Amino acid sequence: MHIGVPAETRANEARVAATPETVKKLVAQGHRISVQSGAGVRASYIDDAFASAGADIVDAATAFSAEIVLKVQSPAEAELGLLTPGAVLIGMLDPFNTENTARLATAGVTAFALEAAPRTTRAQSLDVLSSQANIAGYKAVLIACHYYQRFMPMLMTAAGTVKAARVLVLGAGVAGLQAIATAKRLGAVVEASDVRPAVKEQIESLGAKFVDVPFETAEEREAAEGVGGYARPMPPSWLARQSAQVHERAKAADIVISTALIPGRPAPTLLSVETVKHMKPGSVIVDLAAGRGPEFEGRKGGNCPLTEVDEVVMKYGVHIVGHTNLASMVAADASALYARNLLDFLKLILTKEGTLNIDLADDIVAATLQCRDGQPARATA
Ligand code: NAI
Repeated sequence: MHIGVPAETRANEARVAATPETVKKLVAQGHRISVQSGAGVRASYIDDAFASAGADIVDAATAFSAEIVLKVQSPAEAELGLLTPGAVLIGMLDPFNTENTARLATAGVTAFALEAAPRTTRAQSLDVLSSQANIAGYKAVLIACHYYQRFMPMLMTAAGTVKAARVLVLGAGVAGLQAIATAKRLGAVVEASDVRPAVKEQIESLGAKFVDVPFETAEEREAAEGVGGYARPMPPSWLARQSAQVHERAKAADIVISTALIPGRPAPTLLSVETVKHMKPGSVIVDLAAGRGPEFEGRKGGNCPLTEVDEVVMKYGVHIVGHTNLASMVAADASALYARNLLDFLKLILTKEGTLNIDLADDIVAATLQCRDGQPARATA
């Protein structure tokens, strides 16, 4: 097959959907790979490295005209026209955004959104949410350190003792757990909150303290079990008690990393304006849910309503970081892991002979399929 790798053109996107390592493997499988010139340069993969791995270095139109197009993000409007009807497009295509899915369908392509893969053991090697959230959780802590004007570890020096930073992590999924591990490695005192009781053990095994908000009703307990490993919206009674706890913990914290998300829903508000007002001057919030929270003063916040998308703002003496693409800030490794995720996904839709075989009996293929030859997936299932 002819496989194209266009350069990403969206703002703040430095990743690329293939690396010399994955190109080499695809070429060995007998495919022809066309990488757009400069596609990997911001992720430290230069054209020469792709060429040495066996790729042709091409222009955007050629990369988009391939039978299979590998992308990080959904193509922009102008790029859709470069796709060949009937081609296969694979990427992080924003599956909950029905408008975007309809847009892809009008291009007449078969599109797979990898974020929609089930969180099962078999899907782990192609789980883009995990590979990228892991990086985002790590980078969130490093960014927090950058804005925090004190040390992270406890230090005893001749000039006196410096206290360890207190880090509060809200949401202990993939990103949150990596944030806990990274903050611990830097010597911080870490505590974390999540709705799912299953994560208590994971938080504690990383050496952090679990902020416990006990369930008082069967409804609360049932909601907390979530669905398919994901959180569900919690009843207001539990959220009110959690909010009181988070308020107290945030007041004592120096750094808050918030990562709480509920798929297909606005991110929960965990750090209210009132809480920010009571935080210590010089403390830092890194809000990984930036732009995914409820609307506040005419724009979407994150887990904190004061968060501004892709901005770093200072409110009530607190730095609030709203970067939405932290994985892209570690572009080389983020691309390397993402490209391997794609390689593993391709195994599901390509035969050993290298021909296309879209098998809807495969739960991963069925879950990720957004449209087939321009028809919405549900109509073709
Ligand atoms: P996510 O990015 O959708 O959400 C982040 C975290 O926010 C979750 O832990 C969620 O419980 C939490 N959250 C939601 N509302 C909250 C609230 N009000 N307060 C505090 N926390 C709140 O989750 P992610 O990281 O994508 O992981 C989802 C699940 O999938 C996890 O259970 C993870 O362990 C599981 N998983 C399973 C895999 C597999 O078996 N192949 C691979 C990767 C993840």
